[in-house]
Amino acid sequence: MRVLITGAGRGLGTALARAFLDAGHQVAATARDPAGSADLTGLAGAHPGRVVTGALDVTDAAAVARVVPALGARLGGLDVVVNSAGANFRGVPDGPSTLRIDEIAPEPLLALMRVNAAAPLVVVRAALPLLRASGRGRVVNISSWLGSITGAGSGNYGYAMSKAALNMATRLLAGELEPGGIAVVAVNPGWVQTDMGGPRATLTAEESARGIARLTEGLTMAQSGRFLQWDGSGHPW
Ligand SMILES: NC(=O)c1ccc[n+]([C@@H]2O[C@H](COP(=O)([O-])OP(=O)(O)OC[C@H]3O[C@@H](n4cnc5c(N)ncnc54)[C@H](OP(=O)(O)O)[C@@H]3O)[C@@H](O)[C@H]2O)c1
Repeated sequence: MRVLITGAGRGLGTALARAFLDAGHQVAATARDPAGSADLTGLAGAHPGRVVTGALDVTDAAAVARVVPALGARLGGLDVVVNSAGANFRGVPDGPSTLRIDEIAPEPLLALMRVNAAAPLVVVRAALPLLRASGRGRVVNISSWLGSITGAGSGNYGYAMSKAALNMATRLLAGELEPGGIAVVAVNPGWVQTDMGGPRATLTAEESARGIARLTEGLTMAQSGRFLQWDGSGHPW
């Protein structure tokens, strides 16, 4: 498979790139600063000819429209888009967090919506001609249990709202792309040891990424529109 991954410069995104490469696939790895990621340049060096990298801030729609098709063309097409780039609780650098109602401000909320919910759709739009040409296109939106309305508790407004919106986007995309044979799922990666998840998280990035790569390989149209766990089991909406 030819797999485009966003946010591949660190954390789960890098682990996903490694997992797909280890499974024999080709990867278009995008990051805001790919050259600044030793992990990503190391991966590219270790898998010559199977990795292309590109600089991409997913909230820059013009860059998405330019970079995604260009990287796909370098791989001769795209079969999978994995939207992994994401941000948590502070949408604006040094701005207020969106954790509690008494510190809520619109701009940090909207910034999280932009990166976690709007950007994945814009990335899919840019990749769509290549996904359609693939004959077995797949979209994997990295969501979170915090986007689950069934499991919602309190707080973390910006992040939870943006991931719930991503879940809805997943359902809508699945419906719209079904006639073209493109499967679309939202995936909860679990609590993962990354900068976002912290060191006490229960899963290594490698464990989560390997599970997500496996479920992507086996993804069928019957699963399209579902919210899945990293291990391929179902997750409540
Ligand atoms: N870790 C967990 O426990 C956990 C749990 C549930 C869901 N998730 C989801 O899993 C995904 C990966 O998270 P992670 O744990 O790897 O988080 P992380 O360690 O905080 O890394 C976030 C990644 O997203 C990228 N990113 C953020 N804003 C971006 C933008 N505007 N354009 C391009 N890339 C951007 C970052 O790139 P830079 O290096 O350029 O900042 C980085 O690669 C996210 O969607 C997250 O919401 C994580």
